[in-house]
Amino acid sequence: MISSNFSFQINNLYRVDSTNSYARQILRQKGLNEGQVFWTDTQERGQGQRGTIWESQAGKNLLFSLVITPDWPVQDQFQISQCIALALKRTLDSLSVDQVSIKWPNDLLVGRKKIAGVLIENSLEGDRIRHAIIGIGINVNQTDFSNFNRAACSLAQLSGKTHQLEAILNLCLREIKTIFEEVRVGRISAVLNSYLDALWAYKEPVLLRDAEGEFRAKIEQVLPDGRIMIRRQEQLKTYDLKGLEFID
Ligand code: BTN
Repeated sequence: MISSNFSFQINNLYRVDSTNSYARQILRQKGLNEGQVFWTDTQERGQGQRGTIWESQAGKNLLFSLVITPDWPVQDQFQISQCIALALKRTLDSLSVDQVSIKWPNDLLVGRKKIAGVLIENSLEGDRIRHAIIGIGINVNQTDFSNFNRAACSLAQLSGKTHQLEAILNLCLREIKTIFEEVRVGRISAVLNSYLDALWAYKEPVLLRDAEGEFRAKIEQVLPDGRIMIRRQEQLKTYDLKGLEFID
């Protein structure tokens, strides 16, 4: 579990493949302490969820990976994801960004456009999470997303000004630390409720796709193991990340 006196050590890297794979490599070679942050301006091959590429114009956006050693049971791994998504929501709220929501499992949206994404890679020791590499990308100063294959936006677009990346990084780390401290002192259910409160399209009809095709349904619940439960014509069905896609 993250201890209350833990501190961040920021490693500023000029250009890497991916901060997640860089952290993974160092972890394999010599191990890593909790609180190490690998921050770069440019990734040659940023990794996104579901094997996608995380695109980012050189020098424009915040790209970093944080290493924590939570020692949580593996069945609680989704809680890390929820804590981080919520920390990012609070970071954006504190920058006066309106209409920030969390799209299951941990995408950050403003309206319908994606502003930040999270890729968490856990390494286990028995049934405990030994290390979690938490990769975070926030669109900050990029203003042209025309070649992206999905709707995206940035802080600069929303505020009309350029932001200092290091200031956003520090804000973000502070929110992450605060949330893990809340969990440490036993306020996990408050954190999980805030996650649900911030969930995009919670209890609203949305267009979804599963192996059988497209349909409209409502998000009913997010389960502790990270699966989503949806209500379709009064029937409840549960999906993992691979089983369901949002069309809206
Ligand atoms: C997603 O929404 O698909 C997850 C995106 C995660 C991107 C960040 S950028 C910093 C870190 N390094 C990576 O290669 N990926 C994560």
